[in-house]
Amino acid sequence: MSENLTVIAIDGPSASGKSSVSRMVAKALGYNYVDSGAMYRAVTWKVIEEGLDVTDTEQVLALIHRMKIHFEIVDGAARMFVGGVDPGNAVREPRVAEKVSIIAAIPEVRQLLVAQQRSLTKFGSLVMEGRDIGSVVFPDTPHKFYLDADPAVRAQRRTKDFQAMKISADTAGVAQALQQRDKLDSSRATSPLQIALGATVINNSHQTLEETVKTILDHIKQSGTRRGAMRVQ
Ligand code: CDP
Ligand code: CDP
Repeated sequence: MSENLTVIAIDGPSASGKSSVSRMVAKALGYNYVDSGAMYRAVTWKVIEEGLDVTDTEQVLALIHRMKIHFEIVDGAARMFVGGVDPGNAVREPRVAEKVSIIAAIPEVRQLLVAQQRSLTKFGSLVMEGRDIGSVVFPDTPHKFYLDADPAVRAQRRTKDFQAMKISADTAGVAQALQQRDKLDSSRATSPLQIALGATVINNSHQTLEETVKTILDHIKQSGTRRGAMRVQ
């Protein structure tokens, strides 16, 4: 059965403000918030926990095919459970961040997670952030945004995030890791990071989170809720 739903797609590179902005937009609209990057991170975390080599695609595929995944909405945000476990902040650790782009480049992993991401409309309208939400996961939504910020600003933001989590990090090392991940994410064959057709690009290097959120909400209001409704099977 079809129902009318609104999906807001927010894509962009690391530390461009996607998670913070998407959470705030979702809260303002009363929609659910979905962090698709956390799903790729959770799969990567599981691969590492199982002691597998992330470059051993055969073993990784065997694992994902036996992996039991389910979702719960907690405080307006979708949480992914792997084998009944919510990995929580463990997915933010550098050991996961270093490997996630390798796992995310495997077409079968993307196929599995894109299907899961689309299925989350069963919980209602949503704001989903990632790398390919406007281009691949929900290409039909009229609400597509691409956030960006200067690499140096992004590195400073992520360094502060690590420090707040008591993870030791220096800006130069973080900048290098981000650059490497940007490169892998933008150059992979399947669903690379790109500006989706029709997306509104917002460079927020010199914006506060509130300013970016306002720009997005104004845009959505202008395009109207009727246009925003999307048919989902
Ligand atoms: O938080 P940050 O922006 O650093 O990364 P993330 O959104 O948690 O995503 C982690 C990684 O997952 C990215 O670097 C991509 O390799 C992958 N990813 C993806 O391929 N497609 C998505 N829709 C979301 C994330
Ligand atoms: O999800 P993504 O990796 O794109 O970025 P994020 O985790 O939302 O943002 C990274 C950090 O930058 C967070 O601590 C945000 O609060 C901060 N940020 C900021 O201070 N000002 C902005 N305009 C955007 C993000």
